[in-house]
Amino acid sequence: MGVGIDALHFYTPRYMLDLRLLARERAVDPQKYLTGLGQEWMSIAPPDEDIVTMAATAATDAIRGVDPHSIAMVLFATESAVDHSKAAGVWVHHLLELPRTCRVVEVKQACYSGVCALQLALPYIRQHPDKKVLLLTSDIARYGLNTPGEPTQGAAACAALLSASPRLVAIEPEAGYYTDHVMDFWRPTYLQEAIVDGKYSTRIYLTALGEAWAHYQMESKRALSDHARFCYHTPFARMAQKAHERLVSINDSAPIAPETLARHINASLVYGKKLGNSYTASLFISLASLLEQTEEDLSSCRIGLFSYGSGCVAEYFSALVQPGYRRHLATDAHALLLSSRRPLSIGDYEQFYQYALPQDEGRHATPRHRTGAFRFQGVEAHERLYERCPLSPAHA
Ligand code: COA
Repeated sequence: MGVGIDALHFYTPRYMLDLRLLARERAVDPQKYLTGLGQEWMSIAPPDEDIVTMAATAATDAIRGVDPHSIAMVLFATESAVDHSKAAGVWVHHLLELPRTCRVVEVKQACYSGVCALQLALPYIRQHPDKKVLLLTSDIARYGLNTPGEPTQGAAACAALLSASPRLVAIEPEAGYYTDHVMDFWRPTYLQEAIVDGKYSTRIYLTALGEAWAHYQMESKRALSDHARFCYHTPFARMAQKAHERLVSINDSAPIAPETLARHINASLVYGKKLGNSYTASLFISLASLLEQTEEDLSSCRIGLFSYGSGCVAEYFSALVQPGYRRHLATDAHALLLSSRRPLSIGDYEQFYQYALPQDEGRHATPRHRTGAFRFQGVEAHERLYERCPLSPAHA
């Protein structure tokens, strides 16, 4: 019996920043962002969106038509936690009115934790094939203004409904892991932005890829040619291209031809180029992009997937595309979501970036902006308050 992803929906905030505009403002050649990083736009969350509202909106679409009593678990992966103790998924569970007979927990290990949660959920589904797990990955990628990381920000949440006999992809049991204590990117609990040595992190990413692949190969006995397409954790598109070039060079001494590179990964990069980095959600959005933006039918193809979380933990694994998967994709909704975002001026972007609620016991309301199906209203006595919005993101 196959287990894997039955539905895959993402949500990204309704505002975006054109990297050409950012380049002009920061006196950088725009080609550095467009070609050097491979990015065009990044989604920017307004003050009344956070990881909870983004995940709840994505989840609303992922569980539409599903019996809520079949959802036995909500796993919430993030590195943008809104509370040290309470799992963000408990708010989502409340907003979606899921049954009380459901377990909810938050998991963390930088951008990797979503894949770890996926792998930990699958044996449960094998044992309980009538049950489903709602896997949420949600993050706001934030670097300092005027730093090299600034053009690699972004925001999004992805909701993957995991089940037995999945309609989209079945996850294969073999996987390769790599863990090493490195300080390439981290965010102490008292800081709003990550501390990052970007160039070091790109080097570690490639090292981790080689090591996780070697372990995966040992476990699976598969060759690179057994995989038809590839998805990578994508902090920026050029990183995924470099990663794939590295993977090919490890397996084949000849450099990869540009058309082969394009066929292997380009479809997986379409969405990320438009919404930027989304940390834990990034690999799942790459997968959605691959499935939705590949013209040819990928039924029964094997996809190689690489997840990397700074600090660092990495995993290489694979998925088999299920026949008939195209009928269950959210291509039109995702296209509408991306095309209906509003561009921000630099001034508005910096205002969103700098917005912070007071940290006292008072009642503080956030200003109202365009959001998804839910919005973060503000805080009262240190409690976060959320509300449902009348219009779905596609129609607002
Ligand atoms: N036209 C075209 N390309 C240009 C260019 C121009 N005018 N100017 C620079 N570039 C290219 C560089 O050659 C480089 O490409 P290469 O790596 O293929 O050589 C790329 O743009 C980036 O420029 P570079 O100066 O090397 O790096 P940077 O100081 O801008 O930092 C990151 C880039 C990714 C390190 C930075 O954005 C960062 O810290 N990001 C956050 C951390 C992250 O994403 N880590 C990834 C692993 S998770």
